[in-house]
Amino acid sequence: MVAELSTQLVAQQQHAVKLLTSAKRICILTGAGISAESGIPTFRDKQTGLWENYRAEDLASPIAFDRDPKMVWSWYQWRRQLVQDKAPNPAHLALAQWQQSIKQSHQHITIITQNVDDLHEQAGAQVTHLHGHLWRNRCHQCDKPYKIEGINKENQYANDELITCPHCAGYIRPDIVWFGEALPVEAWQIAEQAAASCEVFMSIGTSSLVYPAAGLAKLAKQNGAKLIEINPNPTPNTVVDITLAAKAGEVLPILLKDFIKHS
Ligand code: APR
Repeated sequence: MVAELSTQLVAQQQHAVKLLTSAKRICILTGAGISAESGIPTFRDKQTGLWENYRAEDLASPIAFDRDPKMVWSWYQWRRQLVQDKAPNPAHLALAQWQQSIKQSHQHITIITQNVDDLHEQAGAQVTHLHGHLWRNRCHQCDKPYKIEGINKENQYANDELITCPHCAGYIRPDIVWFGEALPVEAWQIAEQAAASCEVFMSIGTSSLVYPAAGLAKLAKQNGAKLIEINPNPTPNTVVDITLAAKAGEVLPILLKDFIKHS
């Protein structure tokens, strides 16, 4: 079901559709807000349950893992339990459908995400992950990928015992980019190239606080792109041309419907 937009949003939404239909290259950056309607808390939401006295930023770091690997691993196992049964929402589905629908046309959409969940993929989109993958593990010491074998998915995340690497005895950690760590080179190259060469850059469900990802919008702007932001709350992103102040799951299906109608 496609929701109604408030009248004040309609003009901006129509302007956005106009830009999107005339663009050859569109670059989309998503953040935790796009998965919020699937029931996954955003990063800067207050923590819940056992973890309500912690800040996500204080747990997602190599310093935290070096200081207390058990605590950080337990937090990720808890997050995995929280995310494992979550499904794509209308925002993920609209982006995937949109990307598919223009395959035979002159347009191209590059989707870059800061999210470590796989809801874009579950929806059928092709996406580049800047901050890694919640479901993958690697050794904190020697970097070798590590696959937990022989346990069913549910038990796997219920167990928060630390695992050691069979190659070097270092601790196994989630394959996620933490604060203070470098982004994967190839993913960052794809992101920079897509941002620098697009005509329209869309920022969806991100607080635009965390760099280098937050710098992609400015890179796009410097290279002449128009910027559209979808976020129910204001952000410090000052280079935006069109703000759609609504939930992604409400606005994206409408945008897609109008886009298809006008293209
Ligand atoms: N639709 C669109 N945006 C939403 C919605 C929604 N339904 N719900 C919340 N938001 C917005 C919030 O207003 C906020 O601006 O999503 C944004 C989420 O911000 P953050 O929690 O800061 O998430 P994100 O920007 O993805 O964080 C970037 O920081 O902690 C690190 O590595 C982590 O990838 C993460 C990075």
